[in-house]
Amino acid sequence: MIRVLFVCLGNICRSPMAEAVFRKLVEQEKLQDNIQVDSCGIGSWHEGNPPHEGTRKLLDAHDIRYDDMQARQIQPTDLQGFDYIIAMDEQNVKDLRTIGYPKEQVYIGRLLDFVNGTFEKDVPDPYFTGDFNQTYALVMEGCQQLLKHIMKQHHLY
Ligand code: 4NP
Repeated sequence: MIRVLFVCLGNICRSPMAEAVFRKLVEQEKLQDNIQVDSCGIGSWHEGNPPHEGTRKLLDAHDIRYDDMQARQIQPTDLQGFDYIIAMDEQNVKDLRTIGYPKEQVYIGRLLDFVNGTFEKDVPDPYFTGDFNQTYALVMEGCQQLLKHIMKQHHLY
């Protein structure tokens, strides 16, 4: 099993969006028995909460399920339990490095590092920008490229 963890600051806007989008893409490729998806936040402010209303509206509009998703804070054990830890921005990556020791083969990086040609490699935070559509477009592009990368890397064709 390949385990993918999406990380943002609050785990209510960007990383739950990425989790839901990526899970749908994984299911479309019929890879749900090969790839497991989760998300969490650097902070604990929203523990137990569902995704932000803006994220829910957007996922509803695109017919993407997010049932039972609840925010949780990252734990040091997550760094041992996942193969790909995919952050939304550079500050998340920096924060991740202070939380604990990742297992040796883990990949830690930003979602948009998988997208060629975007100048900006941080996913804008709609909690502050209010623009959930812009974030969705980037998250979708990033998730498509990430899945391609993982499928190639693990010969999942
Ligand atoms: P997210 O957005 O990291 O994309 O979930 C945020 C949500 C909440 C807060 C910050 C960012 N907050 O400070 O409560």
